[in-house]
Amino acid sequence: MTKPIVIAVDGTAASGKGTLAKKLARHFGFAHLDSGSLYRLTALGVIRASGDPGNEADAVAAAGRIDPAQSDTPDIRQAPIAEAASVVAAIPAVRARLLEFQRNFAATPPGGAKGAVIDGRDIGTVVWPEATSKLFVDARPEARAHRRWLELKSLGQVVEEAAILADIRRRDARDSQRAVAPLKPAADAALLDTSNLDIDAAFAAALALVKARVEEALEARPRG
Ligand code: CDP
Repeated sequence: MTKPIVIAVDGTAASGKGTLAKKLARHFGFAHLDSGSLYRLTALGVIRASGDPGNEADAVAAAGRIDPAQSDTPDIRQAPIAEAASVVAAIPAVRARLLEFQRNFAATPPGGAKGAVIDGRDIGTVVWPEATSKLFVDARPEARAHRRWLELKSLGQVVEEAAILADIRRRDARDSQRAVAPLKPAADAALLDTSNLDIDAAFAAALALVKARVEEALEARPRG
């Protein structure tokens, strides 16, 4: 069987990894999965069922009910859902429940795509350690908070930038300190700091880091 082509784009909260992953997928004609949306959908499910995101039984039940096709719903982009997502994401049984979907996506990208780009926290370390290419995206917390503020504003949400900064710091700490699949760069990931890069410059830098390996993998695929 041909080895799947996978680009793992991990990184800190609001580092721009989602936008970069989407652009990389478009560039190569690959399928894109925002793995954070699975945790956000799980969090939304717990809250809608009046459950407690920190309760294992509530969170695992919600993880089993999510419909990944709903990942475009603006409801999961609310700040309290991001916070609850990082709480459910620290529960090992929740992560185990969401793992198979992510691995299937990597192994058999939808739409017959030749490859997959998956963004998250643990794609290069746990979900697909044999990824063709791995990026770890970060930026200064203040730069990330400002970008998330602009993003939420464009969605019609009024949130204090200082509150977003506090949320980002809290989630990074929780994501880095959890026992299972903590946020940390894979040993073989290329690090990309986007603090001083606009989106076009960040994309150019990301492409330069992954291009050679991905093109080599595409060439090695049997034709047809
Ligand atoms: O876009 P942003 O960086 O704010 O968050 P996200 O990627 O949508 O992820 C939301 C939360 O889900 C994170 O804070 C993590 O706790 C969790 N997550 C995770 O644990 N593992 C992943 N592969 C993706 C997200």
